[in-house]
Amino acid sequence: MDTLPPLPCYLNGEFTELPKAKISVMDRGFIFGDGVYEVAPVYAGQLFRFDQHMARLERSLAELRIANPLSKAQWTAIAQQLITGYAKSTGEREQDIDQLIYIQITRGVAMRDHVMPTDITPTVFVMSNRMKPVPAAQRASGLACVTADDFRWEKAHIKSTSLLGAVFARQISFDAGTMETVMFRHGFLSEAAASNVWVVTHGKVLGVPKDNLVLEGIRFGLIEEICRAQGIGFELRRISRDEVLNADELLLSSASKEVVAITTLDGKPVGNSKPGPVYAALYAGYQTLKPHAAQGPAK
Ligand SMILES: Cc1ncc(COP(=O)(O)O)c(C=O)c1O
Repeated sequence: MDTLPPLPCYLNGEFTELPKAKISVMDRGFIFGDGVYEVAPVYAGQLFRFDQHMARLERSLAELRIANPLSKAQWTAIAQQLITGYAKSTGEREQDIDQLIYIQITRGVAMRDHVMPTDITPTVFVMSNRMKPVPAAQRASGLACVTADDFRWEKAHIKSTSLLGAVFARQISFDAGTMETVMFRHGFLSEAAASNVWVVTHGKVLGVPKDNLVLEGIRFGLIEEICRAQGIGFELRRISRDEVLNADELLLSSASKEVVAITTLDGKPVGNSKPGPVYAALYAGYQTLKPHAAQGPAK
């Protein structure tokens, strides 16, 4: 796409529009992928679990030894202005649409040298866009996914803009005409290209440990919370490939997918190849936690 839509965005202290926002070719985000990002949902104009997204941003920045350039109040104010600006730019009411706030911070601009410079100003970019929920037909049937070895680096817990591993991983599923790539490291489940993976066996939800091999999605906490509230067993532990292939249900979670069932993996049915009861309970629980679901269930 050569031309970008004139959506509002924030770059280094100023509100502008996407086509006008420019950064230096020597930005370390461009040169090295030396940066971090966040993607936070906005339902009916209201930020959802933003504190948790801010806490994860802080953790990612700390790993890169970048000081957080803004306070939580400043991030929130910028996000809110963009939420309003996005709705205005499309001629809609904030409360009628759901959005995704995207935040990116790179180390900043410097002459090319792998060593991390300590005296430069981080580049800050924020935009909001419409949330694209999983289409209703796919939600009802569940998703087809494929598996692959996890060839990404061993710092997957950092929400880094160095995303070539994730791009390759997602492309594997796209090329197969499917929606996500479920990855295994040395025979154990890690996660999918842009989602966490959940295994349901005997009515219990299993997730992988929160270590350096996966990104701790904000949905980790949410799913645990819903399980506790509904009396569904919840455990984080290593999960073998066999357990995944023999699961009663498999689920994906992410900011935009919320929670969705995988019903076909590598062309084979998962469980009875329909979204199962634990998926239904988690999805329903998720909907009740949203401020005011602007769209309700996906249309
Ligand atoms: C690699 C990876 N794992 C997991 C997730 C899910 O995280 P969250 O629930 O915070 O969206 C994402 C989200 O984009 C991701 O990129």
